Amino acid sequence: MEPDWSALETAARAALPRAYAPYSRFPVASAILFADGTVLASVNVENASYPLSLCAERGAVSAGIAGGHGPVRAVLVLSDAAEPATPCGGCRQVLAEHGAADVPVRSLTLQGRTAEHRLGALLPDAFRSQSLERRNPPPPRDVW
Ligand code: THU
Repeated sequence: MEPDWSALETAARAALPRAYAPYSRFPVASAILFADGTVLASVNVENASYPLSLCAERGAVSAGIAGGHGPVRAVLVLSDAAEPATPCGGCRQVLAEHGAADVPVRSLTLQGRTAEHRLGALLPDAFRSQSLERRNPPPPRDVW
């Protein structure tokens, strides 16, 4: 079923002013639809110790998993950049842990430019829990 992208966009637009990005000056908001229908948004939260900065996508996925809302069904990334921002490599790995390969990831700019990819295209041949099976059975849990 096609996600309600307008609900995700509304949530991301509401969150974007709360982005804490004084170092990069690159505010990002992400809204994620979870399996139980819940939409949660988060923003990037940077730190004076730069590597501790948290991306918007990771904040949103963590909130949904912690809330028990089930796996990820759709991801929206909103920025005010000229080009649509796609999730960084680390976020692709985290999203792949909690969402299937066909999960749509829509990137949107405030100017209305969009790009859309499937999670499996953003991170082909992802390293996942099943990859650990032989060494450390059983895998943590089957989220799908
Ligand atoms: N960032 C995100 O939060 N999500 C993305 O999809 C791309 C990048 C953040 C990380 C950092 O705070 C800033 O944007 C610049 O890289």
